Amino acid sequence: MSVHCTWQDVMQDAAVRLQAAGVEGARRDVRLLLAHALGVEPVAVLQCEMDDVEPAGLTAFEAAVKRRETGEPVSRIRGWREFYGRRFHITPDVLDPRPETELLVDVAIARLPRNGRVLDLGVGSGCILLSVLAERQDVQGVGVDISAAALGVAQMNAETLGVAPRAEMVEGGWDVNLAGAFDLVVSNPPYIPAVDMAGLAREVINHDPHLALTPGGDGLEPYRAILARAREVLASGGSIGFEFGLGQSLAVIDLMAQAGLEQIEMLRDLAGIERAAFGRRAAGAP
Ligand SMILES: C[S@@+](CC[C@H](N)C(=O)[O-])C[C@H]1O[C@@H](n2cnc3c(N)ncnc32)[C@H](O)[C@@H]1O
Repeated sequence: MSVHCTWQDVMQDAAVRLQAAGVEGARRDVRLLLAHALGVEPVAVLQCEMDDVEPAGLTAFEAAVKRRETGEPVSRIRGWREFYGRRFHITPDVLDPRPETELLVDVAIARLPRNGRVLDLGVGSGCILLSVLAERQDVQGVGVDISAAALGVAQMNAETLGVAPRAEMVEGGWDVNLAGAFDLVVSNPPYIPAVDMAGLAREVINHDPHLALTPGGDGLEPYRAILARAREVLASGGSIGFEFGLGQSLAVIDLMAQAGLEQIEMLRDLAGIERAAFGRRAAGAP
């Protein structure tokens, strides 16, 4: 390509290539990738569209577009994802945080008592736990994950967001030993049933860790395991909330009721899909 063409020409060419590669929202992605290649905010791309391309920026942009053509998400190429208004560093070891998971943060912030303690089971990048801690300066939290590499990412994000002194990261499974009870427990566990894995988009199956996507079987095992210890980890009157997948709401609510939780509240995401549920351990319950 001639170095006398403008960024607008280059973007047009890239958008056609991404569309041909089956990328939805190709024009938006091109703008984000050019901003990434040039080290500017996406809004600044509008101001340089008519500038002549420069070789270093073009090389970086071309590399990013090639990655996107193969189905790698923009967030993976950039190495970060915005969640609840903050930037979270991500690596191949963590789930790319999804916008619908912000629902859990909304409810957690509202339900936590003053100076409360929150537990995030399957903390991943830390997007839920660390958003809660960033919004609520009075709260302390623990994040658990079976992946040591994921915990490293969560710890890094805790430091970047300035909440590390109030966040403890613990390596272990759903049954990990934890000291004391929590006012709020939250989890977005791996929940995709084994039979649905083959139908996932290439952006997901090739880039999110398998461990973060599915526990195998019917996808409900993490809820069973976590709810089996709900009384132990939840303080009297405390809340527990889960995210779940399409079509799993009734099964998860049933498991929550069987675990003795009360006032179970269902939440829908912006697409109107039943996406999360919170329940309460009765105050004074044994
Ligand atoms: C769906 S991801 C959620 C990550 C993050 N909380 C979020 O919402 O983006 C599930 C997380 O659970 C962790 N995980 C999977 N199996 C686990 C287990 N048996 N015990 C603890 N964590 C587990 C995975 O490593 C992954 O980080």
